[in-house]
Amino acid sequence: TDALTVLGIESSCDDTAAAVVRLRTSGADILSSVVKGQNNLHAVFGGVVPEIAARAHVEQLDICVEEALAEANKRLSEVDAIAVTAGPGLIGGVLSGVMCAKGLSAGTGIPLIGVNHLAGHALTPRLTDQVSYPYVMLLVSGGHCQLLLVSDCRTFRRIGGTIDDAPGEAFDKTARILGLAQPGGPSVEHEAMKGHVKRFTFPRPLLDRPGSDMSFSGLKTAVIRTRDSIVADKGGLTDQDRSDICAGFQDAVADVLAEKTRRALQEVKTELGKNPAFSVAGGVASNAKIRAKLETVSSAFGAAFLAPPLALCTDNAAMIAYAGGEQFQTGMRSDMTLSARPRWPL
Ligand code: KG4
Ligand code: ZN
Repeated sequence: TDALTVLGIESSCDDTAAAVVRLRTSGADILSSVVKGQNNLHAVFGGVVPEIAARAHVEQLDICVEEALAEANKRLSEVDAIAVTAGPGLIGGVLSGVMCAKGLSAGTGIPLIGVNHLAGHALTPRLTDQVSYPYVMLLVSGGHCQLLLVSDCRTFRRIGGTIDDAPGEAFDKTARILGLAQPGGPSVEHEAMKGHVKRFTFPRPLLDRPGSDMSFSGLKTAVIRTRDSIVADKGGLTDQDRSDICAGFQDAVADVLAEKTRRALQEVKTELGKNPAFSVAGGVASNAKIRAKLETVSSAFGAAFLAPPLALCTDNAAMIAYAGGEQFQTGMRSDMTLSARPRWPL
């Protein structure tokens, strides 16, 4: 048959993951997708600690692979290719995954393919919705913020992106400034629900400039300034103050992402052709307010809006298996010289 069974391995940040995906002539099935997070390990430090992450990956990788194969009801010998995230990410974690995949490949003779983590995110709407090329993708996570034109499984054109912090980072910092729990995205979103969007107006950086580049570091400064002036005034923050700041901050991020997405779609209008499609991925894409504004922009443009389920928006190995599978089908392979690339632009 033409079907291809791929084992995927992901360990570039703070999730260890393995998955088995079966690619058919069109579309794919996720036979299993195991993700083991490390939030509990990093929580007390207020952020991901690379050394702790790497050690946890080493401990979890074999277990994840075994569980993924068992859940998929496959033996390793039934796998046609092993796809592994080879970057970008934290060097220790990426290395652990690459070593694990190389070991499996060397021991079995199953072909190996190193996958760019961002390509995994960018190809997710093909895995979930069988969207056809080309389409526009907004990748928004704790470490990334890019608008991409995806033309095939190895051709990505950067239309725009952040010039400093990623939006997820801004959410995390805002949470820290306000004394809310990490990761900051979900806490800030939760607080914002009780807040008044109009009480504080935060800047919309770079909206006055043409193009699709974004900036989020100034927002963090604005949040600090707002907090400090309330504290100077009243001696501390009330819950309502906190909620109002969260609401204003979230609204600013959503506006910037939406407007820059609108411009990006406009910029590649010709390339997108008659049936334009737009998709999002990354942890920040799980924010309901942000999703809603993106969907509005997308439908105003006339594009199909594809929002993969949450579990496939955040880091997982199914997207790596899928991306590796599609690249494998075009003849791409890696060999035992495959190495970890902590920096690896698409
Ligand atoms: O994609 P992801 O799970 O991991 C990587 O960064 O690769 O994204 C995590 C980021 C964190 O910064 C987190 O605060 C943010 O996504 N995030 C959110 C929400 N959920 C997670 N940001 C805004 N709203 C959310 N609901
Ligand atoms: Zn990611």
